[in-house]
Amino acid sequence: MSTYQTPSEIKEIYTKKNIVSEYDALRFEAPLPRMVHQAEVEEVNKYCQNKGLVDSVLELAVGTGRVSKNVKNIRRGVAFDNSEEMLRYSGQILDPSVWKMMKGDAFNLPFESNFDLVYSFRFIRHFNVGERQLLYKQILKSLKPKGAFIFEALNLRAPVSVKERFGIGKANIVDKPIYDELWERESLLKELDSAGFTNTVLVPVYRSSVVRYLDRIFSLTKFNHLAKKNKILGSIIVTLYSNIETVSSDKGNCFEWVVICQKSG
Ligand SMILES: C[S@@+](CC[C@H](N)C(=O)[O-])C[C@H]1O[C@@H](n2cnc3c(N)ncnc32)[C@H](O)[C@@H]1O
Repeated sequence: MSTYQTPSEIKEIYTKKNIVSEYDALRFEAPLPRMVHQAEVEEVNKYCQNKGLVDSVLELAVGTGRVSKNVKNIRRGVAFDNSEEMLRYSGQILDPSVWKMMKGDAFNLPFESNFDLVYSFRFIRHFNVGERQLLYKQILKSLKPKGAFIFEALNLRAPVSVKERFGIGKANIVDKPIYDELWERESLLKELDSAGFTNTVLVPVYRSSVVRYLDRIFSLTKFNHLAKKNKILGSIIVTLYSNIETVSSDKGNCFEWVVICQKSG
């Protein structure tokens, strides 16, 4: 099946008003996607906390601000996106004393060694390798020496049922699927190394078969539906899943990795 994949197609999709207003509700209300969301936020927070306070941060393709509104220990940040609709939405949520909203094209960033940390979620994976290399160049140009880059990468080896659960390869919000790159662990490491990143760490997210099993039962019994409506119940399940995840071993078939790497040199 053909996919939306070119930079102009990806840009265009997220300028639609209904997609912006429904974005978080469609993706992050059920316990399982909430757990994945929390794991992504947690890795960014861990990085910032380890540094004490990160002076300057860029969130590339900020969208609704679901990540940055939960990130602490940063002094100032630029929330960057191409979509005015997205920026209007996230601009109402992010703390204006920390965040500056900026509209622009990620393929042509107006920065030179400005940031200690760049992070970007649900963005890099939508492009093919040639375009990802262009994005990496822009990110490296924007980072200070030894600055860090954090993003998520989907695992090719994740079970088919897990990919289906997250709608990978399916038309969800528009009439055909949006392209998603699925990486082999080794090819991901090579790709980042050849782009100019080093010290890469891959943190596996959603690796537990017990969580997979519980999510299946909760979906079949409509319990997930209840947990979407009842935030407290939802939070209890997310906490349960996250705790199970911390004691699960990585068998190489996690859903995604949170990738933490550093500008070489
Ligand atoms: C799938 S959303 C991800 C939003 C957010 N990072 C998240 O994880 O929820 C993709 C975002 O990329 C933005 N985008 C698409 N193409 C872009 C480009 N060339 N430059 C900057 N932002 C772009 C869209 O406007 C949208 O906000």
